[in-house]
Amino acid sequence: MLQSQPYRGFTFRSPAVTVCGGNAIHQLGTVLKDLGASHVFLVADRLVHQLGLTRGCEQSIALSGLSLTLFSDVEGEPDSQLIRRGQQQLLACGADFVVGIGGGSALDAAKAIAVLGDYDGLISVFKVGGLASRHVGLGAIPTTAGTGSEVTDITVIKEVETGIKVPVKGPALVPDLALLDPALMLDVPASITAATGIDTLTHAVEAYVSRNANLLSRAYAYHAVETLVQALPVAVGYGHDLDRRYEMAVAAYKAGLAFSNAGLGLTHAIAHQVGARYHIAHGVANAVLLPYVMAFNALSCEADYAELAQALGVAREGMTTREKCRASVLAVRQLVLDLGLPTNFADIGIVERDLPQLAEQAMKDICLVGNPRQVELAQIESLLKQVIAGELPAGYC
Ligand SMILES: [Fe+2]
Repeated sequence: MLQSQPYRGFTFRSPAVTVCGGNAIHQLGTVLKDLGASHVFLVADRLVHQLGLTRGCEQSIALSGLSLTLFSDVEGEPDSQLIRRGQQQLLACGADFVVGIGGGSALDAAKAIAVLGDYDGLISVFKVGGLASRHVGLGAIPTTAGTGSEVTDITVIKEVETGIKVPVKGPALVPDLALLDPALMLDVPASITAATGIDTLTHAVEAYVSRNANLLSRAYAYHAVETLVQALPVAVGYGHDLDRRYEMAVAAYKAGLAFSNAGLGLTHAIAHQVGARYHIAHGVANAVLLPYVMAFNALSCEADYAELAQALGVAREGMTTREKCRASVLAVRQLVLDLGLPTNFADIGIVERDLPQLAEQAMKDICLVGNPRQVELAQIESLLKQVIAGELPAGYC
């Protein structure tokens, strides 16, 4: 796909500064000072704070002589009331740099608080591309390897007034600083490591074949897949393997850069509906859906999936493009099985009568824009029936 448009221009956005490594957290104060911070507003998951994972941040910020205000109210997915409370406290304390620490929810909350400033209306008015500037610095420190929120230009906030989850996208949401410290991820439970890891894989695979992919996003996506297939099973099996945690953090970062700049596809378009309606964890929904969507999309991007066979470790000499493509789909399904994640809708409580509404909502999802194959409502319904039955199309057995 990309080879046919070698001269197509693109803009690629990423954090200005990335700090990686074991104990990177101890560099936080110095780096923030270099970025011009004098007063840090630290937005944390409540649990992350209770577990003592913010201690390194607090110590490093204090040692650098910076002021600190802690906001550790984030519990579950952020909503507009939480964001408003955060905005008010940020304005009251006069901090000039917001840093989020935690899973995707805390980072999304920090990004929204930093960008919305003193705005107190409906968040949905911004929607896609509506946020271009902010007046404070922004940093992100993930404690799980999954969403890639530390690098992306997206935040998702539930609007209390309307009850809808609003994805807001814009250049101002890309953090100035991403800090990856795998030591913060050592105690993430195996089930969450597996689900967030498959979310990372889905970001990479969907970005790689996106219609809006570019040279850089493809490189990041490919390498994210290559790293992830080696590191994820070990990290799930033995969470205290610091090297594999480090590799997973970097894979999530790369996959985040890839999809932030290239977009996603049909897997996410459906997973968003499954998450909203059935409260199924995002990574679990992706794990169920990804192999089926790959099999569906193969008509339009067989060569791209064939390339990924190398990264997935399943390409063999003498294989045709079609064989490599199929090997990629089956490798993804096998990884999902190996990690103990569900592979069909029945396992997560979704039944046939739910399908028409899921399909209808998925057709409206913004992620469909980048999907490599054009999609019609009936095709999504037919794909979802395969997911109920737990059977990939003929040729993938
Ligand atoms: Fe995702």
